[in-house]
Amino acid sequence: MGPIKILVTSQKGGVGKSTLTANLAAYFAQFQRRQVALIDFDHQASSYHWIECVPVSGVTPVICDVVTERDPQLAVLKMKQALRAAERVSDIVFADLTWVNIFPQSLLLEFDLVLVPTSLSKVEMASTIEFVSRFAGVFNGAGERRPELALVPSRLHRTQDYLDIFSQTNFPVKFGLTSPLPFDLDIQSLYGQDYIFNTPNPECRERFFQIGREIERTLQSIHRSREHEETASKVTPIWQNPKRRTGLGASVLDGFVFEQRSRARPAQTLQAQAQARVQAQAAAKAGAFESLMGMFRKRM
Ligand SMILES: Nc1ncnc2c1ncn2[C@@H]1O[C@H](COP(=O)(O)OP(=O)(O)O)[C@@H](O)[C@H]1O
Ligand SMILES: [Mg+2]
Repeated sequence: MGPIKILVTSQKGGVGKSTLTANLAAYFAQFQRRQVALIDFDHQASSYHWIECVPVSGVTPVICDVVTERDPQLAVLKMKQALRAAERVSDIVFADLTWVNIFPQSLLLEFDLVLVPTSLSKVEMASTIEFVSRFAGVFNGAGERRPELALVPSRLHRTQDYLDIFSQTNFPVKFGLTSPLPFDLDIQSLYGQDYIFNTPNPECRERFFQIGREIERTLQSIHRSREHEETASKVTPIWQNPKRRTGLGASVLDGFVFEQRSRARPAQTLQAQAQARVQAQAAAKAGAFESLMGMFRKRM
């Protein structure tokens, strides 16, 4: 099974992409003991420099500036090459990218999970809705390589009502919502010095750990989906296949049983999502900030 690829993106600068990318890459290497590659596709290479200044065992940072590339085909080629190289040496690949319109939507299919940080300011929410709506075909599609979309409420001055704001907003795409990362000057002063999970500020630290744990659970569910798909698509010798006795859902082809590749997501994942939705509603009522990756399925 190949590594999981996570794209952290938005079309706006200054929303917290590089902060999130560098800190999540460090979190997964340090606490989950994963081999992590961080590809910084942005010209400023902020997340690359963060890791360079505060090295973490298990994180390999890479620079690949594509945002200033004028030829879209060359930009996409460079991105794919960087991804292929990173995939060979890691369990998780993070990519930090400011989205520019020359990129084809199909680029998103390279990734398993797309994280879009956004504050709750009206102007930023409008931009986020416009941005993710453009990719509705990708995120809502039935393709088995469809990436999951998760919005990360970031730089929040008030965290109390973020769930209400998201649930009252019409998004025409399926998405998950992580816990919020509050606006905090401590986070700004950490750049190139340390990581959010080491900050003495307990609120920031705990909120960040919550986001890390939620993304970890999402990665586990992506792994389970992949295992399910791989098992379902395996060609099994007929004499080893238990379905041979019942003949259920199998067709015989030259002594082998080929089972139809299932496009359905595993029941476990759907159950977990439904449970997360219920938890999200309960948390919203209590005014709590409990973690969630609830799926809001709304249509304009
Ligand atoms: N949660 C936060 N609280 C306060 N400042 C933040 C937070 N997240 C990011 N910032 C600050 O916002 C600015 C932009 O963040 P950055 O991660 O570079 O965004 P992007 O990569 O989207 O341009 C930086 O000065 C960064 O320190
Ligand atoms: Mg950046």
